[in-house]
Amino acid sequence: VVSNRGPLSFRRDDHGALEARRGAGGLVSSLGPLVQGTGASWIAAALSEDDRAAAGAGVVEAEGFRTRMLAIDPDDHRMAYDVISNATLWYLHHGLYDLPRRPIIDGRWYEAWDAYRRVNKAFADTVAAEAPNGAVVLVQDYHLALVGGMLAARRPDLAAVHFSHTPFCGPNSIRVLPEAVAVELLRGMTAYRACGFHTERWARAFAACCRDVLGSEPATFVSPLGPADDVREVAASSACEDGLRWVGNVAGDRKLVVRVDRIELSKNIVRGFLAFDHLLASRPEWREHVVFLALVYPSREGLADYLAYRNEVASTIERINRRWATPSWTPIVLDDSDDYPRSVAALRAYDALLVNPIKDGMNLVAKEGALVNERDGVVCLSRDAGAWDELGGAAVEVHPYDLLATADALHAALTMGPSERAQRAKSLHDTVAARTPKHWLDEQLAAAHR
Ligand code: G6P
Repeated sequence: VVSNRGPLSFRRDDHGALEARRGAGGLVSSLGPLVQGTGASWIAAALSEDDRAAAGAGVVEAEGFRTRMLAIDPDDHRMAYDVISNATLWYLHHGLYDLPRRPIIDGRWYEAWDAYRRVNKAFADTVAAEAPNGAVVLVQDYHLALVGGMLAARRPDLAAVHFSHTPFCGPNSIRVLPEAVAVELLRGMTAYRACGFHTERWARAFAACCRDVLGSEPATFVSPLGPADDVREVAASSACEDGLRWVGNVAGDRKLVVRVDRIELSKNIVRGFLAFDHLLASRPEWREHVVFLALVYPSREGLADYLAYRNEVASTIERINRRWATPSWTPIVLDDSDDYPRSVAALRAYDALLVNPIKDGMNLVAKEGALVNERDGVVCLSRDAGAWDELGGAAVEVHPYDLLATADALHAALTMGPSERAQRAKSLHDTVAARTPKHWLDEQLAAAHR
């Protein structure tokens, strides 16, 4: 397995010795349990000084993972990660650019693209040097689009596939990149045996880009990922019971709307609050009778946009609470502690779960909610989340830009009768439970051997 963020992160203990811990992030929590204990190698970038020190030790075996950390030049990694992966490719694939202003493709951007190439080459060099003959190589996400092309020439024996956990942009958006860069990116990806996506929609968009820019048809496959079994174990833990008590104190006997997200532009967090504000304004019967619990936590703060968005999230909540709060009721409660058992407790307890991204590769929160919710809660889901393709039939549709429609969706969810709620909740649960991450892994291996 090859990814930017790995399954382990390192820290110094009190005696200055390096200590391995389970790495953060969604990718590791889904893929980690599949790889743990299998003896497969996982190659990832060193993300901190302590990771870098661990990288010097070669392969590290801990927590059931066999990990190789790459000590990439920190400036190269920062430029590749911040400027190309996060501020360019992530923005393109999620439709986040305000095109009259951004992107600005200047000299610094081209330097960052060179850094992105060097980072991809460092990964490709390591795979080429270490992968056993004929090995399957599963490369994850937009950080590593070029590795396929770099490996194809040097190690044709390897069966390398690429999987995008994001959406993929269409031909008009890919042309925001300089022509030569779009060609290099897509050639890098089409050199893999196949490129996988969570839904047919993203696979079709990628194929349309390849036809348009390269004039060729790529090999693709579709393989939706589901939540790890972990979530059910956490739901049954005593930490989660503590979380449930905390959630109970927050909501009391009021209806409960929940969202759980990284503070991320594509998640459309601010519009979710504005829609809730509209609900309270247009339907006074909800005042004092519903609480919106937002478990949202900071992410990618190396980017100014993300810092600004975090402030906007906080100030929007303050404004709405100032407008509606009473001595005994706070309409929106923010928790940014990133406490996973507490988040799972909120998922067990919601009456309505708001998942309204502008665009999302999959969105595992919608699926985790469907698995662990205990109140026949309703999922209000954006049709621009990949999860819509599997859950759309039983979720309530959210139009991510339309505040009035989003408020209507919340109202519909909160007033739905018990039998319809039960029927929809069962359908969501059964759909999600039918596919485990093991299905996803098997499909990667099948694509590699095709
Ligand atoms: C989300 C996306 C993944 C991506 C990851 C990177 O989880 O769904 O596609 O790999 O973010 O997050 P990071 O914090 O490493 O930038």
